[in-house]
Amino acid sequence: MAFFFGEALRLGTAYRVRVLGRAFTVLSGAAVNIMMATDADAFSAWNSWLPIIRDFGGRQVLTMMEGADHARLRKLMRGTFARETVTANVPAIIGMTLDALAPYADGQPIPTVYTMQKLIATELGLLTNGRTPDDYFDDIMQFWQTQLDVYVAPRKSGKSLETPAFLRAKARADEFARQVVDRRRAIPRDQRDPDNFIDNLLTAHEDDPNLVTEREIVFNALVPYFAGIDTAANTIAFLLAELLRNPAILAQCRAEADSAFAAGIPNAGALRNMDVLHRALMETLRLYPIAGTLPRTAAKDFEIGGYPIRKGDPLLIATCAPHFDPQYYRDPHRFDPDRFLPERAEHKTRGVYAPYGAGIHTCLGASIADAQIALTAATILHSVDFTFADPSYQLKSEFTPGMSPKNLKLTITRWRNRIALPS
Ligand code: HEM
Repeated sequence: MAFFFGEALRLGTAYRVRVLGRAFTVLSGAAVNIMMATDADAFSAWNSWLPIIRDFGGRQVLTMMEGADHARLRKLMRGTFARETVTANVPAIIGMTLDALAPYADGQPIPTVYTMQKLIATELGLLTNGRTPDDYFDDIMQFWQTQLDVYVAPRKSGKSLETPAFLRAKARADEFARQVVDRRRAIPRDQRDPDNFIDNLLTAHEDDPNLVTEREIVFNALVPYFAGIDTAANTIAFLLAELLRNPAILAQCRAEADSAFAAGIPNAGALRNMDVLHRALMETLRLYPIAGTLPRTAAKDFEIGGYPIRKGDPLLIATCAPHFDPQYYRDPHRFDPDRFLPERAEHKTRGVYAPYGAGIHTCLGASIADAQIALTAATILHSVDFTFADPSYQLKSEFTPGMSPKNLKLTITRWRNRIALPS
C-alpha cells in the first residue's frame, strides 16, 4: 500500500503497474473518491469477489452487487450493523475484552493482532447473531485469508485452495455458518427480528429466491467475520501501539476511559464523550487504512484528470492515498489526532478521508466498528497498563494482504482497575 500511495502522490491521478504478471491502472485522489460516490456506474466490483462466492456455491454477494438489488440487500443488513448493537451489549463486550486479557495477566507477551482478531470475532458473533465462533475461529480465519491471498492480493497460487488444511477449514467455516442460519430459521416468520440480518435475508429469500439464494444466506452469515475481523483487530492493534509511542495522548485517552467507567458500566453517552480516543481512532484509520486500496473494473469508458479509461480495464482505487497528501494533511506521516479538531478539520475536504471506502460499497459496518473499537480500547486502557514486550520495538506495517503491525507484542505491566460486571 505504501508503494501505491507513494506513486499516487508522485504520478498523479492515474498510472499503470504490473504486479505478479497482472497489469492494472491505479486511480487515486479526491476527485476519484468523489467520482466513486457520484458516478457509481463507472466502477464495478463484480469480478473481484465472483470467484470467492462461486466457489462457495453462490452467484453474488453484497460487496459485488449494484443498483436496486444492492440497495435492497444493504437495507436488509443495515440494522445489525448499527452503533446501537454495541451500546445494547456493553457489559458483554467488556467481559469478552477482560477474558481476552486474562491469560496475559502475569506479564507474558500478548500476540496482539491474533488476540484482537479472536476478541473481535467473539464480539461480532455476539453482536450479529448471539453465537460466538469459539473453536471455529481459526477455521474461519484460514478459510478467508487463503482466499484473499489467492483471489484478491494475489500472492498465492490456486493450489492453496486444494490443500487438505484449506478444505478442512472451508468445511468447518461452512458448518458454523449453516448452524447460525439453521438456528435463525427455527424462529417462526412472524417472530423474526427486523434488526437481524439473517432473519431479513430468510424472509427476502422466501419472497424472492432470486435476490438471495440459500447458499448466499449461508455465505452472508460469515460476512461480518470476513469484513470485520482483520480490519477492526488490526486497527485496535495499531491504535494501542501508537498510543504507547505518544504518551501524552495515551494519558488523555486513559483519563477519558477512567471517567467513562467512573460510574460503573459506561452508557452510550459516556462512550460518546471520549473525544480524544475517538480522534485517536480516526487518526489510526487515516495512517493505517487496513482496506486502503480497492479492486474494481471500469464499467464504462470514461476520462478522469485527462486520462482515458476503457471499459473492462482492471483498476485499483487507492482510496486512501489522499491521507498522505501534505496539501490536505499537515505533516501527514505524524500521528496527530488534533488534526480532526473543528478548528483544523483537515479531513473535511471532500474525498480526502476514506478509511471506510467511497461510493455505494462504503463500509456497512463503520458504525459498529467505531463503537466496538472504542469500547474495547477503553476497557483495555482503564483495566491495564501495558508496554511493548520488546522495549526496542519499532512499529512497522506488513502486508497481510490488508495492513498489520509487524510482530507487535504488548505486555501487561500492571492491573489498574477491576471492573465489576453485572452477574
Ligand atoms: C476498522 C474496521 C473496518 C474498516 C476499516 C472497514 C473498511 C471497509 C471498506 C474500505 C469497505 C469497502 C470495500 C469496497 O468498496 O470494496 C468495507 C465494506 C464493507 N464492510 Fe467494512 N470495515 C471495517 C469493519 C467492518 C465491520 C466490523 C463490519 C461488519 C460487522 C463490516 C462490514 C462491511 C460490509 C458488509 C461491507 C460491504 C458493503 C457493500 O458492499 O455495500 N466492516 N469496509
